[in-house]
Amino acid sequence: METEYSEKELIEKDERYVIHGWGYSPIVLVEGKGAIVKDINGREYIDAISMMAGPTSVGSSHPKVIEAVKRQVEKISLAFSGSINIPRVELSEKLAKITPPKLNKFFFACGGSEAIETALEGAMKIAGKKEIISLYHGYHGGTLATLSLGQPSHREGFSTMPGFRQIPAPYCYHCPYGKEYPHCNFECARALEEMIKYGTYNDVAAFIMEPMLGNGGHIIPPDKEYFRIIKETCKKYGVLFITDEIQTGFGRTGKMWGCDHYDFTPDIMVVGKAMGGGLPISATIFKEDIIPPDFGRKAWHTFTFSGNAISCAAASAAIDVVIEEKLPDRAVETGHLMMERLKLMQEKHPLIGDVRGKGLFIGVELVKDKKTREKAVNEAAKVLEKSEGKGVLFGISTLVGVGNVIKIKPPLNISKDLTTKILDVFEEAVSEVENESVSK
Ligand SMILES: Cc1ncc(COP(=O)(O)O)c(C=O)c1O
Repeated sequence: METEYSEKELIEKDERYVIHGWGYSPIVLVEGKGAIVKDINGREYIDAISMMAGPTSVGSSHPKVIEAVKRQVEKISLAFSGSINIPRVELSEKLAKITPPKLNKFFFACGGSEAIETALEGAMKIAGKKEIISLYHGYHGGTLATLSLGQPSHREGFSTMPGFRQIPAPYCYHCPYGKEYPHCNFECARALEEMIKYGTYNDVAAFIMEPMLGNGGHIIPPDKEYFRIIKETCKKYGVLFITDEIQTGFGRTGKMWGCDHYDFTPDIMVVGKAMGGGLPISATIFKEDIIPPDFGRKAWHTFTFSGNAISCAAASAAIDVVIEEKLPDRAVETGHLMMERLKLMQEKHPLIGDVRGKGLFIGVELVKDKKTREKAVNEAAKVLEKSEGKGVLFGISTLVGVGNVIKIKPPLNISKDLTTKILDVFEEAVSEVENESVSK
């Protein structure tokens, strides 16, 4: 690809002007097609993390998404959010067909954090209460309120929202109660009732969690029973249950939604990332029977680009791709292939402590010692770096103390050949890091 800049110039200009988010990496990406992205020098990388845990789940620049965006941008790009725009209506109708029962009232935004904020505010408005409970290992966004739902390390230097509290996550590999599933009495789920009874002012509007936790160590709740207890507790205390499906939605885990694995329906569900086929869009989805009658035409807040026509058109096309290409099924097949091989690697490699996954939502936890399960944080960073050097981009869990989980979340329609290549590179990188540790 021809550009007027050299790689060096771009890196220098970027350094001078741009403020980055997490995970700085001086790769200048200029093209993406499917599961392959290319840098300015023509070097190819396999996108084994879907450009940050999901946005390119249908692959980079899917032809259907390109076509939809081109068609829409020539008509109208932004209709003010109080007006009615056709792509937003079409998208809502399409979404209502695939969301869990009764979750069919949508507020659109551009990113996950905005949509979570909307869910929290919406829950407070609906319940007429102000406290919120979340999980210690959760991640729900980078705004002040959403940071208060996650790990304290992310809000260092900021204040925590008043009335926001946390309980332990269902992190079985490092059980916070020192127990072992299934002989654990689901203490982590029962902690919700303890918190409501003894840690709040009985003013809890909502409990929020990811059905499977992404950034906080790739935690997969072990059983439907966990959610049964959570739902029952929420019902008992009149607390709304919000699930954050921003990473798990749109087929990532082998079913359309993470909650489908556990047979429950939340009161409010939040989606984003994969939704727009690479374009910025998210939605807060309210159950029809919890919202007041005037909630549709007269929401309490707005975002300028809420439900902009281009992102809505892209999202409609991306949903068509998820359905037509049977991406949840593809996630099951490819995920199975990956898990089988990763489990074999786990037996062979001392560094691989645990392999957790559903569909193509896969995390590999690296440890210094399989008995003590001491987290191999530096080693994980090295595996990531080596893999990038070998042309595969992985992700890593970002919460302090859990930066030892490598995340593998490629586009759901990735080919078998590229899947094998990802696994080959991962094993090579792990072996090299193990050998370096031994020779020290
Ligand atoms: C589960 C989850 N919720 C919320 C967010 C925040 O989304 P965004 O970065 O689009 O604001 C993320 C982002 O990684 C996420 O993984």
